[in-house]
Amino acid sequence: MSGRSPKVVVVGGTYVDMAIRCGQIPPAGESETGSALSYRTAGPGPTQAVEAALCGCQVHLISKVGGDPFAQMVRNSLAEFNVSTEFVYTAEAKNTGVVVTLVNATGENASCYYAGANTALLPQDIADAEQVIAEADVCLIHGQLPQEAIVSALRCAELYGVRVILNPVRPLEQRGQGSCDLPIEYFTADILIPNLYEAADIAEQSTANIRAAKLIGSDLVARGVDYAVITMGRRGCMVIDRDSAHHIPAFEIELVDHTGRGDAFAGALAAYCAIENNVRAAAKFASAAGALTCTKFGSLEALPARAEIIELLQKEDTP
Ligand SMILES: Nc1ncnc2c1ncn2[C@@H]1O[C@H](COP(=O)(O)OP(=O)(O)OP(=O)(O)O)[C@@H](O)[C@H]1O
Ligand SMILES: [Mg+2]
Repeated sequence: MSGRSPKVVVVGGTYVDMAIRCGQIPPAGESETGSALSYRTAGPGPTQAVEAALCGCQVHLISKVGGDPFAQMVRNSLAEFNVSTEFVYTAEAKNTGVVVTLVNATGENASCYYAGANTALLPQDIADAEQVIAEADVCLIHGQLPQEAIVSALRCAELYGVRVILNPVRPLEQRGQGSCDLPIEYFTADILIPNLYEAADIAEQSTANIRAAKLIGSDLVARGVDYAVITMGRRGCMVIDRDSAHHIPAFEIELVDHTGRGDAFAGALAAYCAIENNVRAAAKFASAAGALTCTKFGSLEALPARAEIIELLQKEDTP
């Protein structure tokens, strides 16, 4: 990497992850005493942005938080990792998105999401950040936001010829609905990066295996994207383009905590693509980032830096 730093813009939801450790997860109508509490900045937006920054990119996050004390905590966490918060907007009348999780003694958990201010990200917010999108090498978008905001980001990036990587999760308005109906603009993205379940949801397929991944990936490419990169947890990922399907096995690691693995993968993929237009090599680099994230507890603090990713890649290449 020489000259100026590669630029990545991330558009993604922000959440504060609150976890309480307790003996057992109480059924409705009962309560339980907690033994530990943690609350941290999390969500696809911050996690992907921080991973791209740890890979050496200059990163802006476009997201929305509430008019509450969590908002400052989020900004501070992002600033610690050199992610610009200039376009982390505030919806004063809303709360910052929160995930409340109860973790029992055996590590099982139950959680509840509250999207809060994430539901208030507007096309105008995207328009206000037009300049940073225009100047980016890659725009990385996570789909769990209002559909109109995502479509605006896709259109803006296309207008300026900025490479787009989209994690096509259902938009917030479509959560819990029967069928997944994504707008056609989603297929103007250069690279789609669903996990296998998201991919099956889009393609309305019930099977979620490697064979299905190839077929679904080809379907996504036929709909207009250059590449579909379907992630499959410890089964690795599949990179599909018009001519081929290439499986990249996962790195063997000792699993400690898988929080953030998909977002680490996305952030690292965006960082690599911001430097070099080689999606297969980018997916390998991203796989190493996803694997390394699984070896540590926590959310942002578990994300690997570029040097650690390169070390793992080199280890694998050494006979
Ligand atoms: N247990 C694991 N061991 C090694 N690598 C892993 C493991 N889990 C994930 N990875 C790597 O990270 C990538 C992304 O993981 P995954 O497919 O689970 O994402 P995801 O379902 O989007 O996760 P999330 O729920 O965090 O968004 C995988 O393709 C793989 O390369
Ligand atoms: Mg994911």
